[in-house]
Amino acid sequence: MTEHILVLGSNGQIGTELVTALRKAYGFNKVVACDIRRPDYDIKNAGPFEFVNVLDKENLKAVYEKYKPKQVYLLAALLSATGEQNPKLAWDLNMNGLLNVLDFSIEYRTQKVYWPSSIAVFGPSSPKNQTPQFCTMDPNTVYGISKLAGERWCEYYFQKFGLDVRSIRYPGIISWKAMPGGGTTDYAIHIFHDALKKKTYQSFLSAETDLPMMYMDDAIRGTIELMDAPAENIQIRSSYNFDGLSFNPEELAAEIRKHIPDFTLTYGDNDPRQAIANSWPKSIDDSYAEKDWNWSPKFDLQKITSEMLRNLGKG
Ligand code: SER
Repeated sequence: MTEHILVLGSNGQIGTELVTALRKAYGFNKVVACDIRRPDYDIKNAGPFEFVNVLDKENLKAVYEKYKPKQVYLLAALLSATGEQNPKLAWDLNMNGLLNVLDFSIEYRTQKVYWPSSIAVFGPSSPKNQTPQFCTMDPNTVYGISKLAGERWCEYYFQKFGLDVRSIRYPGIISWKAMPGGGTTDYAIHIFHDALKKKTYQSFLSAETDLPMMYMDDAIRGTIELMDAPAENIQIRSSYNFDGLSFNPEELAAEIRKHIPDFTLTYGDNDPRQAIANSWPKSIDDSYAEKDWNWSPKFDLQKITSEMLRNLGKG
């Protein structure tokens, strides 16, 4: 049985939904969910699961040895806000986790590797509007530094060793199934939970902080479309700019008010995440993704808002 797909970091916000989508596409037992933490579902009835610490080479090698994976998705990472609280751990996990996976993927002849980058690779000197694929990049968070360095490693492994590694610079991902894991864009999820529970939310980002965002369904579809595209179409082996939409807290609140008219939004101050957001793009030019693998998002602010409120409202 050599057709397995590994998802490393399967319990996180993206992993939770990617595993389900990949199992639908490739078969329930073909996709091995791997995480350092026990998932909050019943492992025995939920498809293959392995405890994996991507920093533990022996542990990681044993999983490669057991499954000889054809594809590997590496999602285990510390995000922007959490990374600032523990910079050395963020660097270690984000960087050495990636290098371990790249090395074992060569050793075990993995056909394709997926690794997410982020809009955090851009910094204060990058153009803010319609940020292009290629421009000045001076990230000033440890998360952004590790993602930019990771992009260079991905391209290096492609060029030196022919490893088919593919990557997307995710914007803030909005979803309802699992909570986000310590990012700067997380307000755009918390706001929906609080709107339904309390009809009020205190944003840690200011009213006019525009950021690139995307609904999870688009992010998962885009990820799988990139992985399914013919290798010769994938011209960018660092990481693709990837756009959904851009909005700020005030615009999101206005959309929520169409469903919950008495929803109120207040603002905190002096949150360290504001400085991170200020250093990031306001909007993204993703024309390479459009050209190379036909990327096109489907969810606008209206659709995201109604989907989020409908799904969270059920629970
Ligand atoms: N959502 C991520 C973060 O805020 C961006 O990559 O850290």
